Amino acid sequence: MTKLIQWQEIKNSRVILRLDLNVPIKDNAIESDFRISKSLPVIKELLKRNNQLIILSHLGRPSVEKREASLSLRIVCEHLSSMLDERIKFINLVTDNMAFDDYKIIMLENMRFYKGEVENDPELARIISTHGDVFVFDAFGVSHRRESSTIGLMNFLDYAAGPLVESEVNAAKSILEDPDKPLCTIISGAKISTKITLIETFSDKADYLILGGGLLNTYLYCKGFELGDSLIERDLQQDILNFFESENAKKIIMPIDFVCSSDVSLDNPKTKSISMVQSKDKVLDIGTKSIKRYAEIIKKSSTVFWNGPLGYVEKKPYGKGTESIINVLADSNCFSVIGGGDTVSVIESMGVENKISYISTGGGALLKYIEGKDMSIIKKLGL
Ligand code: 3PG
Repeated sequence: MTKLIQWQEIKNSRVILRLDLNVPIKDNAIESDFRISKSLPVIKELLKRNNQLIILSHLGRPSVEKREASLSLRIVCEHLSSMLDERIKFINLVTDNMAFDDYKIIMLENMRFYKGEVENDPELARIISTHGDVFVFDAFGVSHRRESSTIGLMNFLDYAAGPLVESEVNAAKSILEDPDKPLCTIISGAKISTKITLIETFSDKADYLILGGGLLNTYLYCKGFELGDSLIERDLQQDILNFFESENAKKIIMPIDFVCSSDVSLDNPKTKSISMVQSKDKVLDIGTKSIKRYAEIIKKSSTVFWNGPLGYVEKKPYGKGTESIINVLADSNCFSVIGGGDTVSVIESMGVENKISYISTGGGALLKYIEGKDMSIIKKLGL
């Protein structure tokens, strides 16, 4: 029988450490090392206590038949090694020579290259477990995934939650349980269907609801506005209609204007009031009047939870709404929790990370936690 232990008490041991080093990589270069930098504290602390580490992570969603070179963790290993100023032995297969030699850290190749990882095959977890004495899980981003290298290993080794997982759970709890009021929730982004439960979760708790992106478009479309060629999920009409017939729909802060384009290239942006959008327009961002209205709401809020960018941030100038709201949050004293890779990338590009109360490393995992779903790993970790 394995048991839950405290990560701070682990010393002189071989620690199997599951991290989420699933970072964006483009043209063989790491675009954001946010998740790597958030993993440094647990590594440094465990090394200080004379432990040896075997680091596990996944990268992307590879097929097991083919080890795609673009999804190799080698580049992440090199980056981590330079951030730590510590040599790391990179190992392709857990059946290769796993001796530490004169290294303090081993990193295994992408866990999802192994058959059985995503199916939580106990045999894979067992083989990996033979190389360690204890297991530390500090990968909040995969805390909703029951895989061999996440929950599977907990059946073979005593296990502990790492400090990042603890701080992520604490941040989410401070939004969900008795947040300082008023609470403003900003829910946006392109993956509309994943956000409906989030609205339901927050519609009672929040004082203000700011919607954006495809979700806002779909909401306005259901209310009878012309949204032209914008991102709309017509299948979700009924869910949205159910919601806006409820009392809580009054909490939605309506936008005033949008930035649209009717060009296929998405050039020639034009700001239009929401009733002036035409059939050829694509809504790509909120306009300056909407930004001002949202900023006023944020300034009078004590707590803000934000998931998903407010516009098409991948193309200029449609990131302006998101950037402006980030600036408002950076200048405010409210407690803010922001999750979701796209919004986090914008924050990083603006260099204001330190002015936001909490930036989550979890995308889907944070949403699942907030919705209270599939969190058996977090429960097992006693958090
Ligand atoms: C993420 O990027 O949200 C995590 O690393 C989980 O990745 P997954 O959705 O491929 O499991």
